[in-house]
Amino acid sequence: MVTDNGLLARLARQVEAYHPGLRLSERGRVTFVGDGVAWVDGLPSAAAEEIVRFEDGSRGMVFELQKERLGVILLDQEARISSGSVVSHTGERLQIGVGDALQERVVDPLGKPLDGLSPPEAQGVALLEIASPPIVARDFVRYPLYTGCKVVDTLIPIGRGQRQLVIGDAGTGKTSLALDTVVAQAGQAVKCVYVLIGQKRSEVALVTDLLRRHGAFAYTTVVVGEATATAGMKYLAPFAGCAIAEGWARRGEDVLVVYDDLTTHARAYRELSLLMHRPPGREAYPGDIFYLHARLLERATRLCAEHGGGSLTALPIVETEESEIAAYIPTNLISITDGQIYLDRHLFEAGVLPAVDVPLSVSRIGGKAQHARIREEAGRMKLDYLQFLELEVFTRFGARLEPGTEAKIQRGRLLREILKQERLTPLPAAFELAWMVAFNAGLLDARTPEDLPAALQGILGGLEHEAPALDAPRDEWLARLAAWLGVRP
Ligand SMILES: Nc1ncnc2c1ncn2[C@@H]1O[C@H](COP(=O)(O)OP(=O)(O)OP(=O)(O)O)[C@@H](O)[C@H]1O
Ligand SMILES: [Mg+2]
Repeated sequence: MVTDNGLLARLARQVEAYHPGLRLSERGRVTFVGDGVAWVDGLPSAAAEEIVRFEDGSRGMVFELQKERLGVILLDQEARISSGSVVSHTGERLQIGVGDALQERVVDPLGKPLDGLSPPEAQGVALLEIASPPIVARDFVRYPLYTGCKVVDTLIPIGRGQRQLVIGDAGTGKTSLALDTVVAQAGQAVKCVYVLIGQKRSEVALVTDLLRRHGAFAYTTVVVGEATATAGMKYLAPFAGCAIAEGWARRGEDVLVVYDDLTTHARAYRELSLLMHRPPGREAYPGDIFYLHARLLERATRLCAEHGGGSLTALPIVETEESEIAAYIPTNLISITDGQIYLDRHLFEAGVLPAVDVPLSVSRIGGKAQHARIREEAGRMKLDYLQFLELEVFTRFGARLEPGTEAKIQRGRLLREILKQERLTPLPAAFELAWMVAFNAGLLDARTPEDLPAALQGILGGLEHEAPALDAPRDEWLARLAAWLGVRP
């Protein structure tokens, strides 16, 4: 016997309101397939970015909406479809698994494993494309993200939640700088996502191997849009990496994402757009290429406390040709990001490594996240360095110099030597402060480039033994440094 009258009444109402009728469902058909894309007829209500399913079970993503037909990116490389194959709606959008299971893994833009292991058991899913956090959810960039690199941490500092472009010609050390930064996050409670776009398997293996050897793989996810993958996969790769990173950032964690590199990404997008018959614009890129990178990089931010206080720092990489930073894609990215680290081919060839061109590099917000003492010392040091770079130009013409000028150039040369750094030798923040205090106070002036390494090693050794606090008074630092260097303060 039914006792719940409310339920009974509700059922009765529903029966009364029921009108049998026609339910329309659309069935599309493939009209053309090739180059990783398909054209589909007969799905007039499909939405942009909707996932569609082909009759062989494979999936596609709607990329281009035209009046009569749809342009679809094929998501499964082994899809067996041809002209006439049936296509249906799913009403879904592309998602990827997120969570801690993704750490120490290499996945493709759909989250499928590329490391030969079983699929990661994700703790949740996230859409590849979402709107960036609104202003009210954002907070100021306040905490530093140490790269362990002397020249970057002192002169071009990066804050957690910042977007910092790494730009330079081919083979100038862009990937090295990004990888060194990932390695430097050990023990800093920063999770990392390294997105490789259009790279060969051998390059992917090198990257994962390096991360593993330096103990950085444990907190890193590698997302790969392989060189042999379709343009669609390469296009999706950075969005997949961003979604994985956001999964952690929204949980209140600090995350670093590297996009290596967005030049290849822009080219993949151009290829895709041309395949989809979108009108080409400047350099044959489609008109919305700026929007493509802006919407990706806008998702990097520091969230405010009500939204968990996490952060997503982005290090996009872009390659220039013939040092032309005023080219189309580089200028777009320079204007989207909060600063750039410019790697110069001439410096690289001259053995100044990392080949950071200080006058052309800038960090627009990282200074606010820098420790006040480091910022203060770096300001002084930077003035000396920029002055030296200007003076050095004159010496090339063989001009006779005043003794004061000569001394400034000597000091500048010494500084350039100090700023050189081997790969994979991340340095702690205390060391950055220490050597700058020593340099600014002239404690290193008597050193030659040959005995400089020993002096720096002496400082490092002293710090390991007993490091003063970063906020300790300058005099205390000076006294310690003088003792470690064996000079009078
Ligand atoms: N600080 C450094 N010290 C010594 N060698 C370095 C340093 N930075 C980079 N290199 C070397 O320079 C070479 C090129 O570096 P890398 O591959 O990072 O450049 P890239 O700009 O990413 O190149 P590509 O354009 O091919 O992606 C590598 O062999 C790397 O080991
Ligand atoms: Mg590279």
